[in-house]
Amino acid sequence: MSRATHNVAPPGTLAARDLESLLHPATNLAMHHERGPLVVKRGEGIYVWDESGKQYLEGMAGLWCTALGYGVDELIETAAKQMKELTFSHLFGGRSHEPAILLADKLKQMMPFEAGRVFFGNSGSDANDTQVKLAWYYNNAIGRPAKKKIISRAKAYHGVTVASGSLTGLPAFHRDFDLPIPQVLHTDCPHYYRFAEPGETEEQFASRLAGNLEQLILKEGPETVAAFIAEPVMGAGGVITPPATYFEKIVAVLEKYDVWLIDDEVICGFGRTGNPFGCETYGFTPTTMTVAKALSSAYLPISAVLIPEWMYEPFIEQSRKIGIFGHGFTYSGHPVCAAVALKNLELMEERDIFAHAATRAVRFQERLAALDDHPLVGETRGVGLVGGVELVADKDTKATFDATRGVGLICADCCEADGLIVRNLGDTIAICPPLIITDSQIDELFDKLARALDQTLALVRSDA
Ligand SMILES: Cc1ncc(COP(=O)(O)O)c(C=O)c1O
Repeated sequence: MSRATHNVAPPGTLAARDLESLLHPATNLAMHHERGPLVVKRGEGIYVWDESGKQYLEGMAGLWCTALGYGVDELIETAAKQMKELTFSHLFGGRSHEPAILLADKLKQMMPFEAGRVFFGNSGSDANDTQVKLAWYYNNAIGRPAKKKIISRAKAYHGVTVASGSLTGLPAFHRDFDLPIPQVLHTDCPHYYRFAEPGETEEQFASRLAGNLEQLILKEGPETVAAFIAEPVMGAGGVITPPATYFEKIVAVLEKYDVWLIDDEVICGFGRTGNPFGCETYGFTPTTMTVAKALSSAYLPISAVLIPEWMYEPFIEQSRKIGIFGHGFTYSGHPVCAAVALKNLELMEERDIFAHAATRAVRFQERLAALDDHPLVGETRGVGLVGGVELVADKDTKATFDATRGVGLICADCCEADGLIVRNLGDTIAICPPLIITDSQIDELFDKLARALDQTLALVRSDA
């Protein structure tokens, strides 16, 4: 039974206790009390099971993160072994331990740019806060105290903490939280289907957006703009792939005004887009990078910020002057998380996961593109093993549904009823399965999604 049809939660069940105790992140809380939770109990491979034993294909890899899938023995054993040996140690005050050292080393080797130093965090959000703080700290250290503003984009998602939540460009993450902070600005969202002018080519659209970015930098004063942050593919904003030539043109503007490019690879990193990193898929070289999620395949929380050595060097003198490099988390480089992340990266190599994902992407993108013909679908978009299906009221005019109709949610519910987990980002259905998915599982996923689209269409028509 789907959540849309069952009556919340009988007393005493986990669902009932959920409704009494949890404050759910990123949830419509009012609706949650009407619908109740989906309580997931177990996972194996690309599937999860709920309390009643019903199986679901996890078409969102959790939250874009369970790259190697569920129940990988080697990762579980690594965690247990590390817990037995050294449950915890930290990196403050010069203390160190093997898992953090080996993981930092491994990440540096994998990077598609000259990464000199690795700073560990616990989540994508705190890592992006670190990015902002490091840009500020660096510019103070080298005597450019005015160069502090960070430019992000409308519909970006970079997290929810005070700085990263400001970088996020989705109104619901700002409204009534008193965000964004004044040092953060937003420029255009690079969504060609929605925001291109009539007759504009992808290249012309990209040129216009790069021109707008340049105007913004000039208006603010280049001496006040420190960095631009971007996801190679925008995830939570609706799986938005950039138009042709976009990053090339953006990078030219950034270089002209000495503005850094912070590459948020929290979703795209580690094989998602058909290359190890999204910046490789789109042909740009970042100044710094954020990774999380697939870094540990979500077995344990860990994130990392990678910076070039030239950025680190002034920090040494600065900390001599101040007495400490005053930033870090208790769990920065947590030994169990680091050991599991390292094992995860080793398994990705041993199992040739990046090549596997790139090969599976052919079938995935074929099946995704085939949905374009469906009467409800305005646009499909994607790259590698990530895709978005935007539902529209009118294919010709691209008119959206009234948001109150919740058409995206209806479709996600139909998927759930049929044993497929997807995520509706408004009326865009996001798909991002574990990277280990096979061709026949890709067919299973898209067969279920196609059925859900038909059911949604029938419901929308009957309700018109
Ligand atoms: C691109 C990107 N950056 C940052 C974050 C924030 O990560 P976290 O939820 O681990 O704080 C996310 C989360 O989805 C993300 O997609």
